[in-house]
Amino acid sequence: MKIEKILHSRIKEMNFNDISFGNHYSDHMFFSEFRNGKWKNSIIKPFGNIWVSPISLVFHYGQAVFEGMKAYKDKNEEVFLFRPEENFKRINRSAIRLEMPPIPESIFMNGLKKLIDIDRDWIPKNYGQSLYIRPFLIAIDGVLSAKPSNDYLFMIISTPAGSYYKSPLKIKIEEKYSRSASGGVGFTKAAGNYASSFYPTRLAKEEGFDQVLWTDSSTHTLVEESGTMNVFFWLKNKLITPKANDNILSGITCKSILSLAKKEGIDVQERDLKVSEIIDGLKKGVLKEAFGCGTAVVVNYFKTISYQGDNFFLPDLTEKERISLKLKKSLLDIQHNLSEDPFGWRFQLKKYL
Ligand code: PLP
Ligand code: COI
Repeated sequence: MKIEKILHSRIKEMNFNDISFGNHYSDHMFFSEFRNGKWKNSIIKPFGNIWVSPISLVFHYGQAVFEGMKAYKDKNEEVFLFRPEENFKRINRSAIRLEMPPIPESIFMNGLKKLIDIDRDWIPKNYGQSLYIRPFLIAIDGVLSAKPSNDYLFMIISTPAGSYYKSPLKIKIEEKYSRSASGGVGFTKAAGNYASSFYPTRLAKEEGFDQVLWTDSSTHTLVEESGTMNVFFWLKNKLITPKANDNILSGITCKSILSLAKKEGIDVQERDLKVSEIIDGLKKGVLKEAFGCGTAVVVNYFKTISYQGDNFFLPDLTEKERISLKLKKSLLDIQHNLSEDPFGWRFQLKKYL
């Protein structure tokens, strides 16, 4: 792989004491091209604009998929990726559904490891902070007919990340708009899934909410996910999350939380979850906690849930009482190499260069 290093790092412009999400990008980026049926020209080079044809299919027909993953530092500044093989598998599940070529494992993993190695100074050191890594695949064919592209670009960029949300969330159960439908692309990280969520989310924000809780598109009676989070409900002493199906993104954080909760002996259920169970639980005081989780968000609990104009407050538990925060700490401790890694989730990044 060719590597062109930057001459002057931009890292001095970065204030690591005040990290917002996605405003600063590390010095380098990786990219690899798929042309005439072959992957070629893998290169790490200085972060910068790319030039593609205005006819590129990504602009017109939305052939674009992406991933979100993180690199963490421990106290000795050793670097760890969290379950990178899961992101590798998922980007290819997304690619196949959008009729795009799967990325070879060697290209994904070598690009990722070497890029993060070169930019390891960009990984924040504090607990809960990380380097958010964004691999993505876009169609760059210059023919305007509505058909899959011949040519593609796979890239990886990264951005230092602190917390995604600053406070507990106010959630609105959405009954008019849908994020995905059965047989569609809801289970993928297709760029278009996010574009289509922006309008209903803006409407909810105008009503004073932070996020919508999506429900199934045909009956609006089943809970799906929220924003960029899978959701969990601590209902009648059971931790319930909607079972991943083709409407829901199968989250790596969600899978990890499930494993951690099971290990703690918590009664966990992955199943269809009715909106009515949640509302009933809120009314009867047996829904103690609700939270969302995802790579960018980590874990964030909900403060209120609104349904058909009624606003329900979740119990005002102390931090110690919250199952969400206990599980968040277990997860972050593993990610920062502060505890054992019984599931083999940490991938230590050696120095390649
Ligand atoms: N659901 C959606 C729509 C997301 O964008 C994300 C974030 O990636 C998640 C769930 C959580 O997935 P993960 O934990 O793999 O980041
Ligand atoms: C992630 O958590 O990785 C996401 O995809 C969130 C991102 C859309 C900001």
